[in-house]
Amino acid sequence: MVRLLLKFSVLPMLLTLTPVVAGEPPQLERHELMEGVRDAAKPIAKMSKGELEFDAAVVMASFQTWSEAAKVFGDMFPQGSETGYDTEARETIWSDREGFNAKLTSFDEAVDAAIAANPLDLEGLNAAAGPVFKACKACHEGYRVEDED
Ligand code: HEC
Repeated sequence: MVRLLLKFSVLPMLLTLTPVVAGEPPQLERHELMEGVRDAAKPIAKMSKGELEFDAAVVMASFQTWSEAAKVFGDMFPQGSETGYDTEARETIWSDREGFNAKLTSFDEAVDAAIAANPLDLEGLNAAAGPVFKACKACHEGYRVEDED
């Protein structure tokens, strides 16, 4: 639902995460959380490419979405949720939880730094978002099943 609305509006308030539905399997919870993270990345990527006008409020809303996600993502990998529901989580999350947590912390820190930087133009945005995207990639490389991206 939130994703659908996003197609028609970039109002910052709509960028907040879908509330987690009680009783939903963790595989689906984290999948949905990551979709929210990706949706928040979209306007930023478009601004960087010049396809969307820079908008500081939209940028900050995306950063907030990432920050909220970073706070809860680590709790979405309980024992027993290693497989099922087409999860893209790699077994390394369970065999090397410390390494996974470290990637999550670097992501959280990059997001905090981006929020503190409070970018007011495209140059500032690129400088702030670059390290965040690197942190996404660094975690996916070790802890997400490889796929097309
Ligand atoms: C600490 C690790 C970590 C970080 C940081 C991280 N991801 Fe992920 N991401 C994952 C894992 C693990 C999955 C697979 C989750 C699953 O399927 O259970 C995933 C899945 C995804 C997916 C697929 C969602 C789907 O359809 O299932 C997208 C898109 C995504 N991440 C985008 C991002 C973006 C964009 C960022 C940064 C802004 C990011 N991720 C940061 C670990 C991370």
